[in-house]
Amino acid sequence: MPKKKIFITRRLPDAVEARARANYEVTQHADDRQVSIDELVETAKSVDALLITLNEKCRKDVIDRLPESLKCISTFSIGFDHIDLDACKARGISVGNAPHGVTVATAEIAMLLLLGSARRASEGEHMIRTRSWPGWAPLQLVGQRLDGKRLGIYGFGKIGQALAQRARGFDMEIHYYDIFRQPPDKEKGAIYHETLDSLLSVSQFFSINAPSTPETRYFFNKETIEKLPQGAIVVNTARGDLVKDDDMIAALKSGRLAYAGLDVFAGEPKINEGYYDLPNTFLFPHLGSAAIEARNQMGFEALDNIDAFFAGKELPFKLA
Ligand code: DGY
Repeated sequence: MPKKKIFITRRLPDAVEARARANYEVTQHADDRQVSIDELVETAKSVDALLITLNEKCRKDVIDRLPESLKCISTFSIGFDHIDLDACKARGISVGNAPHGVTVATAEIAMLLLLGSARRASEGEHMIRTRSWPGWAPLQLVGQRLDGKRLGIYGFGKIGQALAQRARGFDMEIHYYDIFRQPPDKEKGAIYHETLDSLLSVSQFFSINAPSTPETRYFFNKETIEKLPQGAIVVNTARGDLVKDDDMIAALKSGRLAYAGLDVFAGEPKINEGYYDLPNTFLFPHLGSAAIEARNQMGFEALDNIDAFFAGKELPFKLA
């Protein structure tokens, strides 16, 4: 039987590509460039499934342009805010994501952002790299310790819980808010807040770990920031559009927020200009899942969806 054809929009780790090529006829660009939407739609005409990334924005108008023959999209990401699931359902397209591989790697980056923000890592690095270190001094780049501080986690799914586990190792006191309270074996002593406002009011450190949905988009804004303790530190490893950038930047400039550690940005890779010159930020280019163990697992999960689809089974990580 001829192999089914799939389009993989970007280069993936060797082990993932090897598995894909063993089972499928793979269309892929060797140069790893970002594919345009036109190219995605055009290539979809000659394949049976798409393995996309979070960069390919599959809004309704894009889904509607896909050929009738295309009935499976699997995304190499836990996030699926780039795919219009309703439009896919209407077209009978099965959609799956890669929900587990990212967990530990993203929690590690959140921890790194918490530490780097508390201890002013980017300013220290900048001082060295710009050859402007005048030598050790008692008041130079003095930050704060994490131990004994309250960490508020907004979104207590797998990543939020994995962050809590790591932060406990730094003797932080864990608080969280989510739509549902987790059972004691998942809470592991974390203090549940019934409202976001309540969580904000105690969060000396605040970590955003919620998905981007119409309900959460831009929730972190002037009003929310006002509910945090003075001089709070915020980290975001979820999605950039949860934050209203202008409000965050104003609060960082005024000192209302002491520091922000950000791995994700609205409109990536073009980020709000205001961040570039703010010294009290620790900024990463969406590194959350950028660990080989995570990227391998993400790829295998994305392929598991495609395998199931062609086997006529329910997608293991089904979104639509
Ligand atoms: C995801 O999987 O959605 C992450 O943002 C990738 O790092």
